[in-house]
Amino acid sequence: MRRIRARTSPGPGAATEAGAGSGVEGGGTGDGPGFEFTFDGRPVAALPGQSLAAALWSAGVLSWRTTRVNGRPRGAFCSIGTCHDCLVTVNGTPNIRACLLPAVPRDRVTTQEGSGRAGLHE
Ligand code: FES
Repeated sequence: MRRIRARTSPGPGAATEAGAGSGVEGGGTGDGPGFEFTFDGRPVAALPGQSLAAALWSAGVLSWRTTRVNGRPRGAFCSIGTCHDCLVTVNGTPNIRACLLPAVPRDRVTTQEGSGRAGLHE
């Protein structure tokens, strides 16, 4: 039987790779300055390597799509690309998994309603 060692946290005062010298605590992102993208027209701060979902969560946004049938709110659930609850529209392209796509400066991210193709059915 395969055994997996539990991860341990660094002791108090220990510098993490992501936080060392970057001026940003935690997050597990790469080096470099922060930037902004927009979500429904509002600026959202992000760090290099941070997924859209992580940046939206950091900004306090927990829901960015509605379900096709009842219009119920959804956001990130699995955060590994499996559940598709986090679908969002990015630069006009619907059905992008926000948990997998790294944020990029000046991306235009918008709430996705249902299938994200409402404009194509008219
Ligand atoms: S949160 Fe499940 S696919 Fe993105």
